Parts: sequence; C-alpha cells; structure tokens
Amino acid sequence: MTKILIVDDEPLTVQQVRDLITGFGYNSKFALKPGYLFPLLEQEGFDLILLDINMPETDGITLLRQLKMHPEYQDIPVIMLTGMADDQLLADCLECGAADFINKPIRAIVLKARIRAALTKQGYIRKIEQQKEILEQQTEELKTYRKHLEDLVRERTAKLREEIDEHRRTEESLQNAYKELQNTQAQLVQSAKLASIGELASGMAHELNQPLTVIRMTAQITRRILLKNESDSDKLRKEIEMIEKNTGRMMNIINHLRIFSRQSQQELSPVNINEVIENCFLMIGEQLRLHSIEIRKKLNPDIPKITADANQLEQVFLNLLTNAKDAIEEKRTRSEPLSQNTERIEIITGVSEDRRSLEILFKDMGTGVSSENADRIFDPFFTTKAAGKGTGLGLSISHGIVTNHKGKIELAETGPAGTTFRIILPLEES
Ligand SMILES: Nc1ncnc2c1ncn2[C@@H]1O[C@H](COP(=O)(O)OP(=O)(O)OP(=O)(O)O)[C@@H](O)[C@H]1O
Ligand SMILES: [Mg+2]
Repeated sequence: MTKILIVDDEPLTVQQVRDLITGFGYNSKFALKPGYLFPLLEQEGFDLILLDINMPETDGITLLRQLKMHPEYQDIPVIMLTGMADDQLLADCLECGAADFINKPIRAIVLKARIRAALTKQGYIRKIEQQKEILEQQTEELKTYRKHLEDLVRERTAKLREEIDEHRRTEESLQNAYKELQNTQAQLVQSAKLASIGELASGMAHELNQPLTVIRMTAQITRRILLKNESDSDKLRKEIEMIEKNTGRMMNIINHLRIFSRQSQQELSPVNINEVIENCFLMIGEQLRLHSIEIRKKLNPDIPKITADANQLEQVFLNLLTNAKDAIEEKRTRSEPLSQNTERIEIITGVSEDRRSLEILFKDMGTGVSSENADRIFDPFFTTKAAGKGTGLGLSISHGIVTNHKGKIELAETGPAGTTFRIILPLEES
C-alpha cells in the first residue's frame, strides 16, 4: 500500500491531511519536527513526502535540498505545502527537485490530484529507470559480446594469416619443384631427341648417301666427258648443275639436323605445320623409301600458321613416323615373306570443323595397338620394342610437348588394318 510521510509543524494541518489521505486509500505517518524526517525515513520506506515550507528550526527548502542530495532518498517525490504564494519560492522549490506544491488551506480535490500525479510521474520515472538499467545491462552485454567477437575475429585473422603464409610457402616450394620439373622435362625432351637422332643415324646415312651417289656418278660422267675431250660445254654444265643441286640437298639435310639437335629450350614462333612435316622427311624420307613405305601427304595448303615450337613439333611428328614405320615392319615380319607389298603412311592436315584448331592425322597400315596396351602407350618407358630399339619415351614426351602447346594427342583408331593418331592444336582467336 502506498505510504505517505507528512512533515509539518502545525498539528491541525497534519490531522486534516492525514484524514484526507486515509480517505484516498493511502497509509500515512507524520513528523511534527523537521528533525524527525530522516530518522523516520531510516525506519521505513515512503512513496511520497508532503513537506511544509514554513517551519521553525529547519525550513522546508533546506530539508528538500538535503533529501535531493541523499543517495537513498533523492528519488522519493516531494510535494511542498505552502501558506503563502511566493512565486520565487515556488520556483526555487521546483528548481531544487520538488515534484509539485500545494497551497494552504488544503482542498481535498487538489491534494488528491497532485498526489496521484506525483505518484504516477514517479512510477514512470521508475519504469524509465528500470528500462535504462536494462538497456545499460544489454549495452554492457553487447560490449562484452562485441569484444568476444573482436577477439574471435583477431584470432581467426591471425590463424588465416598463418595459413596464407603457409600456403605461400607451399606455393613457393611447389613453384620451385615445378621449375625443376620443367628443367628436367626439357632435359628429357632433349635426351630423347638425341636418342631418336641416334636411332635415325642409319637412316641419315641413307639420306646423305643418296645425293652422294648421284654426285659420284655425275663426277664420273664429267671425268669421262673430259677424257674423251668432247668439249660439249652444255653437257658439262648440266652435270655440274647436278652436282651443285645434290650438294645443296646434303647441306640442307646436315643444316637441319644441326638445328634440330641443338635447341633444347622451348622457342615459340609462327609455324606452318605443313613445313614442319615436310622437314621430317629430310631426315627420314629416304629411309622410308628404302623400306618400301609409301608416304601419302594430304596437306591442306590453306591452314593458318600457329604459334609453336617447330623443333619440338618435328620431334613429335618424327616419333609418330618412326612408330608407324616400326609397326609396318613388325607386321611384315609376322606375315609370309612373299606378301611384302607396299605399305603406306598417310598424313593429313586441316582445320577442325569448328575452325578453332588444327587437326593432324598420322595413319599407318601397321600392326595396330592391342586393346590391353592402348591405355599404356603414352606412359613413360612403355615399349613393346626390343631392347635398344625403343626407349618407350617417344609418345610420353610427345604428349608433354603437345600439352605444352595447349593441344591434344590421342590414339584415334587402331586395329589389324593399322593405326591413326590425331593431334589437335588450338588456333589463336582472331
Ligand atoms: N603406330 C603404332 N602402331 C602400333 N603400335 C604403336 C604405334 N605407335 C606406338 N605404338 C606402341 O606404343 C609404344 C610406345 O611408343 P613410344 O613412341 O612411346 O615408344 P617407342 O617407340 O617404343 O620407343 P621410342 O619412341 O622411345 O623410341 C610402342 O612401343 C608401340 O608398342
Ligand atoms: Mg616411338
């Protein structure tokens, strides 16, 4: 129940007010001397104080000030009771924190309304204060939560940074390993090429022997003409031209071999694939002819140039030609010796249907690849050839080279009738 404390030195007023308050349904106590105020407050709690301004000893305003400065009682609403209507005094009261004032003589209706207004206001204030407290508490909680979040973020960031560093280190070592691998690969490509040149050596001897034979014969004819003293200068000129032409051919072959064997690092330039294919026959053409292997070339003259390493592509083509030749010979050794007819290797170049790449086909009429070997022919060191004849590196290196050119090499078709390899090299977007 609401409890009201009345502080007034006039017993009559006190009695009148008490009666009224009881009538309003509130409890009340009173102090006839200002000095009783604080001891009473210490004894029990009050919801409102009615405080007379005019009192001997300590006046109401001084008491009001003391109340409003007291940490425990400053929130209790105080309504001042006044006999005289001094505006300045009333203003001072309000300034000091009084909730309201009531003029004497006190009328019931005014007292009731003012008490109720002050209590309601105090109720609101208390509610607001409670809300404020809750808010403060929530803010505090939020602050703690935020700090926790920040700690978490800091922790995660540090961890992430560590992980990134770790990744960077791994990437660096991967890159180093990759560089090393590239170097090793380049060395491997080079050694395989030199090995294939070794394998080509006997073929090269044929290659050079052919023009040499022509030169020798021509020289003999020339000598005979000179011995007979037939001063047919026309005939002589023709023979010398023949010698010149064939020495030129030999130089061409030797020069090409030198270029082919020298380069080891990738060198890109605009390349006409048809020319690269033609160059292969400088080193292998005569050998194929001697083995009665016909070469049929269907080289589309309109194919665009691509940016590539001509030397490396030649290595790929040479391996395909050598493989084709070996497959044809192997087939021959398996069949009746009399059935040696002319076998064929076909090379076709062209642009793919979607016009985005070059397509090169190498078709042979050799043994074909057995189905159990088909998956392994691109593996390094996989060979079905006799020791010393093949290292098994040809196709795996070719695969590496073509992949480096962003292309594809695949076994397109194989069977008893022969084998087709397909190389696809992308054209630059124009
Ligand atoms: N045109 C082909 N016809 C039949 N078999 C083939 C053909 N091309 C490749 N092969 C098979 O694939 C294997 C691997 O070929 P690859 O060129 O990698 O090595 P190799 O020719 O045996 O040795 P290297 O090329 O190192 O001298 C060959 O041994 C052969 O069995
Ligand atoms: Mg090979």
